[in-house]
Amino acid sequence: MENLLVAANWKMHKTLQEAEEFAEDIKAAKAKASLLIFPPSPYLARLSALLEGTSIEVGAQNMHAEEKGAFTGEISAAMVKSCGASRVLLGHSERRQHFGETNASINGKVKAALKHGLKAMLCIGETSSERESGRAMDVLRAQLEECLGGVSAKEAGRITIAYEPVWAIGTGKTATPQQAQEAHAFIRKTLSGLFGKEYSKTRILYGGSVTPENAVSLFREKDVDGALVGGASLDVGKFLKIGNAG
Ligand code: PGA
Repeated sequence: MENLLVAANWKMHKTLQEAEEFAEDIKAAKAKASLLIFPPSPYLARLSALLEGTSIEVGAQNMHAEEKGAFTGEISAAMVKSCGASRVLLGHSERRQHFGETNASINGKVKAALKHGLKAMLCIGETSSERESGRAMDVLRAQLEECLGGVSAKEAGRITIAYEPVWAIGTGKTATPQQAQEAHAFIRKTLSGLFGKEYSKTRILYGGSVTPENAVSLFREKDVDGALVGGASLDVGKFLKIGNAG
């Protein structure tokens, strides 16, 4: 099994100078997990350059599905790649909630990212009402099937899943290790159904109020392969603690 992957989702936080300081600090430190940073897109090129030659990867928080064109304010997969980034985060619940993204539009982005050689981290997760009404696993299955429709088994090797229950993001209400394990095992089974047995190796990260404290017990679960961290990733010390929690 690969080592854990711990990813920082900075969302709309930090100035360029703060981002550079974080990159320098993290370069000088050691973590047991593989590390990945999703900074705001204006910093992609600078952070990729600063972290070149290290094992720390950089990715965009979002991109457009089209190759290029009259889409003011958007960035394409080729632009992300040309900045030196290797990954892109897609389908985050904040994108779904505030920017109208749907499984269908996310599917277009996933296919464009893979076509351009990027590794795509697809976020999925149920809302609290979906969980309370016993539909959580059905929602996860539909998100996987619809967001990954038309992706070939070969391309699926470049997909990572982030399971982020919407009720756990930024709320301080982390899923219990048992809830995370149940969802991750279900996601793993669904991926092997979609792409074949070898896709049971796909990394599945947990996201939603991860802290250095709760990461230890989450990482003990068999199917939790790392974490996607929002709030706690803004502080380099906390982020590194999570990177060393496994
Ligand atoms: P949080 O965010 O760690 O602040 O809950 C996680 C995310 O949105 O990816």
